[in-house]
Amino acid sequence: KITSLADYALSEIETKISIFSRDMDTIHKNPIEHVKRRIKKYDSVKEKLERKGYPVNMKSAVENIDDIAGLRIVCPFESDILIVRQYLEKLEREGSIKFVEVKDYIAKPKPNGYKSLHVIVKVPVKLFESTEWVTVEIQIRTVAMDFWACLEHKILYKKDIVADEELSNRLRNCAEMIALLDQEMFDIN
Ligand code: GTP
Ligand code: MG
Repeated sequence: KITSLADYALSEIETKISIFSRDMDTIHKNPIEHVKRRIKKYDSVKEKLERKGYPVNMKSAVENIDDIAGLRIVCPFESDILIVRQYLEKLEREGSIKFVEVKDYIAKPKPNGYKSLHVIVKVPVKLFESTEWVTVEIQIRTVAMDFWACLEHKILYKKDIVADEELSNRLRNCAEMIALLDQEMFDIN
């Protein structure tokens, strides 16, 4: 049930994003490079509930885990992130979605160098007897931010490896170099 709801919610929001993306393509430069969806696996949901000290059951998962349904929107340039955010705000004003929380790791990157804008929303899924508002975590980032995050994730995120100081410094340096490239490509554009 949870995974089907997550799946429906992702389809709902994905369709809106896809229409927006194609519309922007015709009137302007498309602010979206690609979109990726994922549904959190049972084992990861369980691990996160345990790690955060919540009971391990369906109700608790729905209440406490914001990213069972996840959508990642990858943009060419940092300025595109604001355009996508503004579209989400328009959907919110129209009542099509509800904002739960915005975590701006671009204005304030994580200490390890992670950058992304996280917008946690609720999306209505209209069933026959009820409408379920399903939480979706939307991550918006540039191709450059995505490059760093994907590789850092492969290297150590959530693995049992604890990065020592040297490794952490090197990853943070990479994030800084990538941010410079991001800025330079933006300026060139
Ligand atoms: P968890 O990190 O999943 O426990 O979620 P949280 O409640 O702490 O929220 P947060 O906004 O920190 O992270 C949500 C999601 O963002 C994660 O599941 C990752 O997909 C991504 N993320 C956050 N921090 C990092 C990071 O340091 N590196 C990478 N690669 N991804 C990150
Ligand atoms: Mg985290």
